[in-house]
Amino acid sequence: MCGIVGYIGKNNATPFLIDGLRALEYRGYDSAGIYVVSAGTIKRAGKVEELAKSVPEGFSGTAGIAHTRWATHGLPTELNAHPHADESETVWLVHNGIIENYAELRDALSAKGVRFRTETDTEALVALIASKYDAKTPLEEAVRAALAEVRGTYGIVVASVREPEKLVAARFGSPLMLGIGTDGYYIASDATPILKHTREVVYLDDGEMVIVTREGYDVRTREHEPVKKTVETLEWDVEAVQKKGHEHFMLKEIMEVPEVIENSMRGRLVPDEGTANLGGLRDVLPRVKRAKRIIITGCGSAYYAGLVGELLIEELAGIPVEVEIASELRYRRPTMNPEDAVLIAISQSGETLDTLEAIKEAKRHGMLTLGIVNVVGSTIARETDAGVYNHAGPEIGVASTKAFVSQLTVLSLIGLLLGRADSLSATDGSAFVRELAALPEHARTVLSRAAHIEALAKRYASMEDALFLGRKFQSPIAYEGALKLKEISYVHAEGYPAGEMKHGPIALIEPAFPSVVLAPRDSLYEKTKSNIQEIRARSGKVIAVTTDGSEEELAQVADDVIAVPKTHEALLPILTTIPLQLFAYYVAKERGLPIDKPRNLAKSVTVE
Ligand code: M6R
Repeated sequence: MCGIVGYIGKNNATPFLIDGLRALEYRGYDSAGIYVVSAGTIKRAGKVEELAKSVPEGFSGTAGIAHTRWATHGLPTELNAHPHADESETVWLVHNGIIENYAELRDALSAKGVRFRTETDTEALVALIASKYDAKTPLEEAVRAALAEVRGTYGIVVASVREPEKLVAARFGSPLMLGIGTDGYYIASDATPILKHTREVVYLDDGEMVIVTREGYDVRTREHEPVKKTVETLEWDVEAVQKKGHEHFMLKEIMEVPEVIENSMRGRLVPDEGTANLGGLRDVLPRVKRAKRIIITGCGSAYYAGLVGELLIEELAGIPVEVEIASELRYRRPTMNPEDAVLIAISQSGETLDTLEAIKEAKRHGMLTLGIVNVVGSTIARETDAGVYNHAGPEIGVASTKAFVSQLTVLSLIGLLLGRADSLSATDGSAFVRELAALPEHARTVLSRAAHIEALAKRYASMEDALFLGRKFQSPIAYEGALKLKEISYVHAEGYPAGEMKHGPIALIEPAFPSVVLAPRDSLYEKTKSNIQEIRARSGKVIAVTTDGSEEELAQVADDVIAVPKTHEALLPILTTIPLQLFAYYVAKERGLPIDKPRNLAKSVTVE
């Protein structure tokens, strides 16, 4: 995720800005840049160290802004790195977040003769600010006028060649804080860059902006109303800030799930038409809609997300879907008819070698290849013909959590889009959109129940085996729940479709072999409940994951019950996966294991 730093004060800004970028590296990024008033700008694709090496002696000034970029619109190149400037290089801007209506803004500005150098949404914003910034207008007024026309999220800091004694920062949906030092003011997207310099901070709230000079700061609403802010004292150390106060990145990333669902859907729901708008698929949509067969591929959690995708697309759009583990698909005898088949590859990192090779094999046979990828500009993103980015932000914990949820979210959008091209009615499409829109809030509800899951995990933490069961939409979540548990807690766990239990795994059931059964009130609830009874009849312990309203009923047959809010059956995996992630996390924590870096595992598997 992108990071921002800014400084205005008595000292040379450059050392703080470069150090600040280093402190923000943990967030993940692909390029970095710095602008120092009266010195100029330097940007580099790749590491902050590369940028640091490029800063010449004497590159100094007492105000500046800097940024680490995690690409969302446009490749991770030097050109697309921040800070961005308007055409005349008067206004300079760093930006976190996404400007949803950037294409409209660009078109409107282009029509007035503005020329753009990059593919970024941020350049549209800086050009818009510059278009409002005439000789009589102070910078903050131009920023305010521009933000009034913007849809989306932003944390921004703006500098101007014309007013070098001032920085203007604003926030909507992307955090920003102001550090108050003895020698100047520090602006940053989180506290890590600031901590070495001051512990006194002012947090900006959504819809607020701050005008900072060497003499002081002035916080205002977007409507120019003054805001009285409290100066707070930072208590955290650097590591605690990086993990937002959580003990591990994995927990932090699970807690980010509601926001991640929002980001994966941002600007992509079309409530009036009951459909989804996926810009990355626009050019290939006619061919995708004509597909007689879709093949989904991926590895590990991405493969399990694909299994949910299969059900989603088949249920909503009636297109036959086949899901294949990438390391198998790449060596299979091809029976794909390139004309009417489409390959969808799912990968958080975009670098998984097996997935990449499966894509290349499909391309060799002339298939259209699509990617669902989190890392913009990654190899898979570049290798596929088109695709949809997750916008989940960097995932640092080795176990995939928020990225998995965002893969499910994107697959739901693809299912909806293809469904509407098939026989899904506008009314049913709109109802589905409403359910999608409610998911972030539902996810927050699940997370608010984390203490219950933690208590439960503590009781089960000494288990050595576990069985995860689910039916239909829940069977891939059972596989994923088992994978999560074994990855980080080293507990042997198996995921099975619940109906398959009686064909073998039931032999394992005994009091020390608990089962986690996904039993939401969906079309197969009664059948799953029978499976729970079969386990109990063999003295097996059962943790049931159900939907609100069914807790009491399931408490009669299960030992423990976790509930998630109700939603459309096809969207329930997005919610039921969260308690399983938390369960795995708390079990591993209780066992005292290195959760973020489990033994033998790598975050991105670039070998065969
Ligand atoms: O980066 P990718 O999504 O392609 O990675 C695929 C798998 O390696 C990954 O999902 C792995 O299974 C995770 N450790 C699961 O938590």
